[in-house]
Amino acid sequence: MRVLIYLLPVLLALSQAHADPKLSLRDIFTSDERIRSHGYPAEVHEVVTKDGYVLKLFRIPYSHKLNNENEKRPPVLLQHGLFSNSDCFLCSGPDNSLAYLLADAGYDVWLGNARGNIYSRANKLISLKHPKFWHFDWHEIGTIDIAAMIDYILDETQYEQLHYAGHSQGTTVYLVLLSERPEYNAKIKSGHLLAPCAFFDHGRSAVFRWFGPLVGTPGTVWNQLLVDTELIPYNNLVNRLADNSCGSGSPYESICKNGFLMFANGGYENINLTSAQLLIETHPAGSSSNQGIHYLQLASSHEFRQYDWGTKKNREIYGQDLPPDYDLSKVTAKTHSYSSQNDALCGPQDVDTLVAELIHLTEDHRVPLESFNHLDFIVARNMKELVNDLVVDRINGYEGR
Ligand SMILES: *[C@@H]1O[C@H](CO)[C@@H](O)[C@H](O)[C@H]1NC(C)=O
Repeated sequence: MRVLIYLLPVLLALSQAHADPKLSLRDIFTSDERIRSHGYPAEVHEVVTKDGYVLKLFRIPYSHKLNNENEKRPPVLLQHGLFSNSDCFLCSGPDNSLAYLLADAGYDVWLGNARGNIYSRANKLISLKHPKFWHFDWHEIGTIDIAAMIDYILDETQYEQLHYAGHSQGTTVYLVLLSERPEYNAKIKSGHLLAPCAFFDHGRSAVFRWFGPLVGTPGTVWNQLLVDTELIPYNNLVNRLADNSCGSGSPYESICKNGFLMFANGGYENINLTSAQLLIETHPAGSSSNQGIHYLQLASSHEFRQYDWGTKKNREIYGQDLPPDYDLSKVTAKTHSYSSQNDALCGPQDVDTLVAELIHLTEDHRVPLESFNHLDFIVARNMKELVNDLVVDRINGYEGR
């Protein structure tokens, strides 16, 4: 565990040196191939944002088990967490993963990919090699990317509303979008927040202790060094390391588990190791350092607010010394929260704070199993019964099914 933390900066430096911006998706088993390998139809769509990012959306338009391509299939958008991508809703296979469960329940399932991850690494206006490419964080993913995906899906499907489910950062961007652009509430039929993250006063994860004060304060050396770069880039080196330590029968299995631990820090009692190993093949999937820095800022400030650029720049950008808060009372769409006791990143007390601020929240569900942690929402053996079935059930309720 400790070793991994000491190694991380070295890995980061090495991986930067070896970062290959031309890395092609041909080498990767992509989400659409994964979907087809499970027997389902798959489509690939591209959405270009107003600032030029080309985002890849994967789609399971219907289920081959239902043969329902000519029936009404309400759209659902699934949005991944930090360092992740659309594979996170597929890796436990048709019997357990949310994307397939929804397809089999008769929905038109769309899988989003945020700017900067392996599937969304292009911009019509800025080169991937230019630091400006990485000048964004989850504020832009929420206000620009998710908005663009929603508009695209509604246009393609000719529906006026869709259902949304997000994990971790996928919940943050939902809250950012609906508080900053409240007109989008009308486009959400229901929202499902798995391991919701907005406040970080009580995070138990080592990540906060080790990096929080260093990186989360504007103007520190670490902050200057890291701003506008790619954080843990997806490339062959980082990937092979992860893959080798997590491959089945690997002598480094404990490193793999501890790697998960470092971020989730909640134990691995529930983990489906096969699923985790598949997931590792396309993770960490690439994100801007600013996304991580912004989260650490929340941990230091105890506020859910916009990126802190330091007083001088804040005045220029926001017209005030401190960044403005996200106004969660503006989230009026029907929203369900699913959180767990053993979440070291976005734990129960921080969920209490969030729930208190979300005055229009429809449901505050707490997973009853004590050991369930942050990553269990995407890799646990028991996530179907404990979480995914509930989500499908709630969405069915809204559709009168
Ligand atoms: C674990 O993951 C594997 C690989 O996707 C999948 O085939 C299996 O059904 C999963 N098992 C459970 C109980 O989630």
